[in-house]
Amino acid sequence: MSDKLVEAAREGRKSAYAPYSDYRVGAALRSDEGSIYTGCNLEVVNLTNSLHAEEVALSEAVKEDVSEFDALAVSTQDGGTPCGMCRQTLAEFCEPSLRILVDSIESDEVDEFTLAELYPAGFSEISSF
Ligand code: THU
Ligand code: ZN
Repeated sequence: MSDKLVEAAREGRKSAYAPYSDYRVGAALRSDEGSIYTGCNLEVVNLTNSLHAEEVALSEAVKEDVSEFDALAVSTQDGGTPCGMCRQTLAEFCEPSLRILVDSIESDEVDEFTLAELYPAGFSEISSF
């Protein structure tokens, strides 16, 4: 099951549009029901507007009204982990127990974390909201 999720992240990475950094990222998010939503990074010339693979995968799921997730796989050449912005975004929609599989294509190794491990004590709420 996890292997299938990593495969989906690698497959998603093939669609990356990263002409500026040449750093392609694929993500695959699995719902509790077993559906898989994939994403890739999309760069824009001003760079700030670029979308991260994890955000794209999450938006694919949210648009289908899916809100319960058990695992995310992220695939890059060198095993890069989700950035801080993505960790905060994941914390919005996923439980701290979310499994995060970090795939390195060059070493063919997958490191496993939980969201809580990667993003402890994240920002949660402003009481007046
Ligand atoms: N990137 C992601 O897609 N996810 C992350 O969490 C880290 C960074 C992308 C953004 C940019 O297109 C490229 O990787 C290099 O930063
Ligand atoms: Zn990110």
